[in-house]
Amino acid sequence: MDENAVAEELDLSKIDKICEKYKGKKGSTIPVLQAVQEEYGYLSKEMLERMGDVLNVSPHELYGVLTFYAQFYTSPRGKYVIRVCRGTACHVKGSGRISEVVKEEFGIGDGETTEDYGFTLEEVSCIGACGMAPVIMVNDKTHGNLTPEKSREIFKDYAEKFKEEE
Ligand code: FES
Repeated sequence: MDENAVAEELDLSKIDKICEKYKGKKGSTIPVLQAVQEEYGYLSKEMLERMGDVLNVSPHELYGVLTFYAQFYTSPRGKYVIRVCRGTACHVKGSGRISEVVKEEFGIGDGETTEDYGFTLEEVSCIGACGMAPVIMVNDKTHGNLTPEKSREIFKDYAEKFKEEE
């Protein structure tokens, strides 16, 4: 499925409602971008255009803000974002092997998303839980003291969960 096909299927009308709430308010650019991203999971060019129409600002201005902050995403991501820590402590304890397990289970490398938009892999630097190295986060949940086997079990559970939710 290509990105445009996804964008076409999306109902962008929710953007209008979200933007109306923030319209004309000072300092609302970041909160409104966050709110729209929360609804759709990312921010596409079409979404920024629609936001610009309602808010009366240029989409370029919005784009400028969003590219400045790492918290915004411009393409669809998986329902579950797997962050594998590649900081020093985790690296020493074998986090590279955990990334390989992600590749084996889901067929994705760093920055990639599965075709069904279930999973995204992000290799990140230290997430501040070195005592539990190697560590991964799946959305907001931290899993530590991992082995490749343990991580494979965890990924299987999430894959099951995703299948059930679909
Ligand atoms: S190096 Fe992985 S949590 Fe610090």
